[in-house]
Amino acid sequence: MNNEKIHEVNKDYWNTNTDQWFGVTALPQYGTLFATEEELNLFGNVKGAKLLEIGCGSGHSLKYQGDHGAAELWGLDMSSSQLENAKKYLRENNYTAKLICSPMEEECGIPKDYFDFVYSIYAIGWTTDLENTFVKIASYLKKDGIFIFSWQHPLHSCVSIDEDKLLFGRSYFDEAWFTQPMPGESTALLCSRKVSTYINALSKAGFVIEQMVEQTHSDILNKIEEVSRKIKKAQMLPLSFVFKARKL
Ligand SMILES: C[S@@+](CC[C@H](N)C(=O)[O-])C[C@H]1O[C@@H](n2cnc3c(N)ncnc32)[C@H](O)[C@@H]1O
Repeated sequence: MNNEKIHEVNKDYWNTNTDQWFGVTALPQYGTLFATEEELNLFGNVKGAKLLEIGCGSGHSLKYQGDHGAAELWGLDMSSSQLENAKKYLRENNYTAKLICSPMEEECGIPKDYFDFVYSIYAIGWTTDLENTFVKIASYLKKDGIFIFSWQHPLHSCVSIDEDKLLFGRSYFDEAWFTQPMPGESTALLCSRKVSTYINALSKAGFVIEQMVEQTHSDILNKIEEVSRKIKKAQMLPLSFVFKARKL
């Protein structure tokens, strides 16, 4: 599928369904039913740090970093309506952020060797060019800067749950783009990448992986009553993953 077409369809999706995603996938959450930043403490101390979020959406994760003492907040997103929401939300909370409207795959004037942290919460998987996006992210970071991102685990996309059994419905190896039904009867274009694809792209872009997390939230793991199918699934496999990598 052609990358321009993918951008066109997905940009339209994010511009028309903006309010539905207001604060939905944001720190301290890394993903639904997943271990949180409060549990994992992957960022450690961000006081005085310069941070850039890729696919910053409504700005809720940027506010979280501001609340933890970050010195500079930068956000990139290809949806102008998401950025309008982010600008308003951050202003209401007395934060200013440098917000840039661009696809993450493109050159957009973000300074090089500048950031202590680049991070992304449920946005990286939308890229049409993972290797090039990671190379760009590496260029924004200072040496030893940290890149943290969460995304849907490929097993979650391949496996469904029926009673107590997990069923493989599609191939783990299939990285082709497909039409993804989205909440609100819309669709977007998406692909599911293997874990090794992320690892190899990080390594090629000059990162060393410090941690990979595949951890359902402890409350969910220990839950035995009122267990929905999604909770049952999250008790058997990770729905999301998080990578923490350092620029060499
Ligand atoms: C699930 S939202 C992330 C929300 C964000 N973590 C927050 O705190 O609100 C995913 C975001 O990725 C953006 N996005 C999708 N494809 C993109 C691309 N190729 N380049 C830049 N942003 C993209 C969407 O516009 C959307 O705002």
